[in-house]
Amino acid sequence: MTVYLNGEFLPLAEAKISPLDRGFLFGDGVYEVIPVYSRRPFRLDEHLARLQNTLDGIRLANPLSPEGWRAVLARLVAEAESDDQSVLLQVTRGADSKRDHAFPRGVPPTVFAFSSPLVTPGEVVRAAGISAISVPDPRWKRCDLKVISLLANVLARQQAVDAGCVETILLRDGLLSEGAASNIFVVHDGVLLAPPKDWRMLPGVTYDVVLELAARHGMPYQVRDIAESEVRSADELWMTSSTKEVLPIVTLDGQPVGSGRPGPAAAQMYAWYAAFRD
Ligand code: PDD
Repeated sequence: MTVYLNGEFLPLAEAKISPLDRGFLFGDGVYEVIPVYSRRPFRLDEHLARLQNTLDGIRLANPLSPEGWRAVLARLVAEAESDDQSVLLQVTRGADSKRDHAFPRGVPPTVFAFSSPLVTPGEVVRAAGISAISVPDPRWKRCDLKVISLLANVLARQQAVDAGCVETILLRDGLLSEGAASNIFVVHDGVLLAPPKDWRMLPGVTYDVVLELAARHGMPYQVRDIAESEVRSADELWMTSSTKEVLPIVTLDGQPVGSGRPGPAAAQMYAWYAAFRD
């Protein structure tokens, strides 16, 4: 497997990062996950814009121009084996021997990218739907940034797995924020509800696609705060992300969501999504 590291394309086994890297020591860095269908990156401009926004948010200069990132992706995508891929981009604040929390001076960032096969849920999982649990959102107040310090998300996702579920829905002050690694949509009385893009959640690229598709096809939707009670009484719940696409949640904390089976709105949205990205 060929990976990109600090300006070079090289075999994975030759890619070396210092143990003093601030990504390793402090989780001081950012990332993006970009889905690639039939060797075409999906919504690349939007992912690169979010990367820029996250870099601005942590005060780290973007090491590459959009054209530079495009060139990195083009080569990784061309050299990978499968047609559908998931490309990870990661930038950290570099390696510095002082281990001072404050930013180091004059240290180049570490820039890493690699492609792996895209594993999406598939027909059987989508037809069955998945189970989720809910927990109070334990994260900080910049959940809009796609940073690599993911421990709270890691623990939340593991809690779901330990409970035999796929996703954990995070609730803050009685409101829905998002999933451990996804955005969450609610269908209530024929209306699609989405929480607003603020500090409580990552502004998902898939989230934007879903709302665009709802607008285009005339599915009624509202972007507004969603109360926990509305999550619990939903007709449908969906999780969305670049790798899960649009996936219905059929049980929450052991209770059925709506009919307890994937709903018609989820199937409709997935069909629009699949047609749109191809
Ligand atoms: N995660 N919220 C969180 C916390 C996420 O980690 C993700 C995606 C999303 C959905 O964003 P998008 O639609 O742009 O993929 C929402 C990626 C896939 C990951 O960390 O692997």
